[in-house]
Amino acid sequence: MADQPTSSFVVLANRLPVDRVTGADGEPGWRASPGGLVTALHPVLREHDGVWIGWPGGELDDYSPFKADGLSLVPVELSSQEVEHYYEGMSNGTLWPLYHDVVAKPAFHREWWEAYVEVNQRFADLAADAAAQGAVVWVQDYQLQLVPAMLRERRPDLRIGFFLHIPFPPTELFRQMPWRDRILEGLLGADLVGFQRPGGAANFVRLVRLRFGHKTHRDKIVLADGRAVGARAYPISIDFHGLEALAKTSAVMARAAQIRDELGDPPHVLLGVDRLDYTKGIRPRLRAFGELIADGRIKVEDAVFVQVASPSRERVDQYKEVRADIERWVGRINGDLGRIGYQPIHYLHNSFPRNEMAALYQAADIMVVTPFADGMNLVAKEYVTCRYHDTGALVLSEFAGAADQLRQAFLVNPYDINGLKDSIWAAMRAAPRDLSRRMRTMRRQVREHDISAWARGFLTDLDATDELRRSA
Ligand code: G6P
Repeated sequence: MADQPTSSFVVLANRLPVDRVTGADGEPGWRASPGGLVTALHPVLREHDGVWIGWPGGELDDYSPFKADGLSLVPVELSSQEVEHYYEGMSNGTLWPLYHDVVAKPAFHREWWEAYVEVNQRFADLAADAAAQGAVVWVQDYQLQLVPAMLRERRPDLRIGFFLHIPFPPTELFRQMPWRDRILEGLLGADLVGFQRPGGAANFVRLVRLRFGHKTHRDKIVLADGRAVGARAYPISIDFHGLEALAKTSAVMARAAQIRDELGDPPHVLLGVDRLDYTKGIRPRLRAFGELIADGRIKVEDAVFVQVASPSRERVDQYKEVRADIERWVGRINGDLGRIGYQPIHYLHNSFPRNEMAALYQAADIMVVTPFADGMNLVAKEYVTCRYHDTGALVLSEFAGAADQLRQAFLVNPYDINGLKDSIWAAMRAAPRDLSRRMRTMRRQVREHDISAWARGFLTDLDATDELRRSA
């Protein structure tokens, strides 16, 4: 690409970190999306004149690189068939369910795989063109697992990092994948492969030892040609200070009070916030709450459950099914247990801006996060960040990566409905002193391990991979 300047820092992710907006003049434009990753990488991107390569999420008239909010962006064009095969198919119909403990059945289709290879090659080619000599290239997530090796093939001078935002499955599940060795080879193109949990890193190291016979040390793999690849956990986090400052604004505080008021100010407001995804365990938490009311342990006038479920991947069958299932449960619970003026569940199928989310977190006494499998779950970290009075309780699935850091949550197994009921009940009845002790510790954890510490940690280790190479 002749018009594209080369850069010493390149980020690749399936999506560009910008949203389409309409300006005051009525003209369409772009605004940086409020995601944590872009917040973390903004300073690094600025300092190194970095570029971000990604899919804009829709069609554009012009796919030339452009600037938005101080970011240099390279849009990747996907045909509608590629969206179907690479994004909805291979990424979200195969890899997503397989890596999330086969909570849903993964589908394996050769034409999806072919599109995945082609699109990964396109990302790798764009990165090879965008990267300056010796640049750092950081590849993100499961949609782009072949990129590291493809990129190394064209540009052995680069330092390549890969971070997987979702769980990495155990050998027994990963082996189902017809293209299992290609994926592992793809990842091994990186100098450093990052995971959310130590277990994911260990699964990966074990797999490459078993399948390829590579020599491995605890968090290092030595390839046949002597090159070393690091494999370690870097638990991702959020922009603690930015979100806490937002939560403390008078507008957000006023909105939180208004939300409680509009809910009838019951003694207990419970909250769930998720992309509407079958991995999130929305059904068990609603069932647990409904049963607590049906059993008479909670009176319907004493508690409401607000469930925000943001629309996601709506053309994928399993997502249509989970939506229908959740909506049936909401209807059943509200129909069976509600009374005039008292509706146990407030279900919002929508996404909301950050300030509304901060107000919701502040309005909620108990946050219920119950995924069956989850790389990290940033919602749990967002909740504790907003609780600057050290009040409120977090009920958290032990299957979320966040459970490693937020040990003072009420930890639950989402498959165990009775256990879930007892934990929600315990959180509702806990003494304020107990809750504030727990919250203080969790808040300190997130404050001290925020998103910039995460990015710094990974990039520092990636920088040190020369030593890794030498010591191999
Ligand atoms: C997860 C994945 C991300 C993905 C996000 C939203 O967090 O790890 O890679 O971008 O979900 O999903 P979507 O399919 O809308 O990009």
